[in-house]
Amino acid sequence: MADQHFPTGTLMAGKRGLVMGVANKNSIAWAIARQLSSQGAELAFTYQGEALLRRVKPLAESIGSSILCECDVTNDETMDSTFSKLETEWGKIDFLVHAIAFAGKDQLAGSFIENTTREGFKSALDISAYSFVDAGRRAAEIMNDGGSMITLTYLGSERVIPNYNVMGVAKAALEASTRYMAADLGPRQIRVNAISAGPIKTLAAAGIGSGRHMFRFNKAASSLQDNTDPMGVAGAALYLLSDLGLSCTGETHHVDGGFHSVGMPQELALKESLGIS
Ligand SMILES: NC(=O)c1ccc[n+]([C@@H]2O[C@H](COP(=O)([O-])OP(=O)(O)OC[C@H]3O[C@@H](n4cnc5c(N)ncnc54)[C@H](O)[C@@H]3O)[C@@H](O)[C@H]2O)c1
Repeated sequence: MADQHFPTGTLMAGKRGLVMGVANKNSIAWAIARQLSSQGAELAFTYQGEALLRRVKPLAESIGSSILCECDVTNDETMDSTFSKLETEWGKIDFLVHAIAFAGKDQLAGSFIENTTREGFKSALDISAYSFVDAGRRAAEIMNDGGSMITLTYLGSERVIPNYNVMGVAKAALEASTRYMAADLGPRQIRVNAISAGPIKTLAAAGIGSGRHMFRFNKAASSLQDNTDPMGVAGAALYLLSDLGLSCTGETHHVDGGFHSVGMPQELALKESLGIS
């Protein structure tokens, strides 16, 4: 992705927004940030802790962004300081990108019913779903009417995906939250949508058991017979966050090569990909 060229233009000219969830150059949030910046947006970033600042700072600087806020979504003080810094620096914002999820590694393997603990469940739902409600409420307080918010979700919310387990439950809550937030903020013409991306090689994806098999299977079983390109996700984000997305809200938009729409994969492609004769 590093060498890919993001389409330039002025679709986001004059718009300012917060991107939450860049960990490194492979993060989906970074692809989205690059696309938004290429269309004229001014961006601020959060980073989860000192260790990630070393990675996020040079990325932010490479697109002319100097507003960096340390933010752990489980810590109200850092949420408060992030949004008050934005208000001090900019007054108003126009959009929010939420690309944050977490579940303990022990929760993301094997049997869902056996391995999901009360603490694991609470933490996955808190970090991966509630954080969008919390950030969305705080963002709305300083957002211009007509603004837009997006979050990132995955098909494991709708169907059983091996090892995705409690994260699938969290993503279902996240998608439902998106619809309720869209209804609450609709009277202000603020739109709230989710992008359901197919598997992409990132730090978060590495935490899920059977990752390699997942990429091979998705490639074979999707309509496009390819893995999901982060540029496609970034393009969808641009559509939803810019005025191109007018009238679209409460939606979960799939960017997964059509994988979600296939009932039964093409036999030949599947056999070739899985090495079965
Ligand atoms: N990679 C995929 O295959 C895929 C597919 C569909 C959806 N998604 C979703 O995309 C989003 C971004 O993930 P990614 O794949 O780019 O991985 P990533 O590891 O690059 O990003 C995950 C981000 O979540 C942040 N985070 C985790 N816990 C946090 C906390 N307590 N406070 C603040 N930040 C916290 C991390 O710092 C990191 O920046 C996630 O919601 C993920 O579920 C990923």
